[in-house]
Amino acid sequence: MKNIVLFASGGGSNAGQIMQYFESSENYRVAALFTNNPNAGAIGLADKFGVPSVLFNRVQLEGGEVLAKLRSFNPALVVLAGFLLKMPSEIVAAFPDKIVNIHPSLLPKYGGRGMYGINVHRAVLENKETESGITIHYVNEHYDEGNIIAQHRVALDDCSTPEDIARKVLAVEHEYYARVIEEILDRFENEAI
Ligand code: GAR
Repeated sequence: MKNIVLFASGGGSNAGQIMQYFESSENYRVAALFTNNPNAGAIGLADKFGVPSVLFNRVQLEGGEVLAKLRSFNPALVVLAGFLLKMPSEIVAAFPDKIVNIHPSLLPKYGGRGMYGINVHRAVLENKETESGITIHYVNEHYDEGNIIAQHRVALDDCSTPEDIARKVLAVEHEYYARVIEEILDRFENEAI
């Protein structure tokens, strides 16, 4: 069994979806949920799936404690699912090309500092975009700038509010994120042979 470690800060619907997807996997398991938010919805979901939660604050994230704890789970892949703090460069450097993130827009559009959650969809609507989508990418030390692994588009013709866009984009995240994670892990396995 290879370990996936999730990081989430908010509602946790992607984290929940990923835990469910890998529950029946024979190769990969979600070994832990790391969160900076004691009220994160993901904590309840982790309990439900029997996944241990690790709660930390920004000082522990930036001071090395989170890195030490993360290493103890020996992750094959670290998966950010609505994680809203910046990953410190020490963690990024410790897991080169082993940290992935999902972003609710077609990067490089609508990425960077402050562009998360509903803010992204508000900007997309204000600019009268006809499409948006999701981007799954590797994490480097700059917000939303790592190499792109996969993108999927959604048409916005039936969306008149940021919430409409959020709903449509989130459904696509749920459809693809766990599958893309599995493909990445399978690729690592094949490269190792
Ligand atoms: C998702 O839409 C994810 O793409 C976004 O936060 C939401 C979390 O939803 N992430 C970012 O904006 C990262 N910059 P969830 O907590 O229900 O999975």
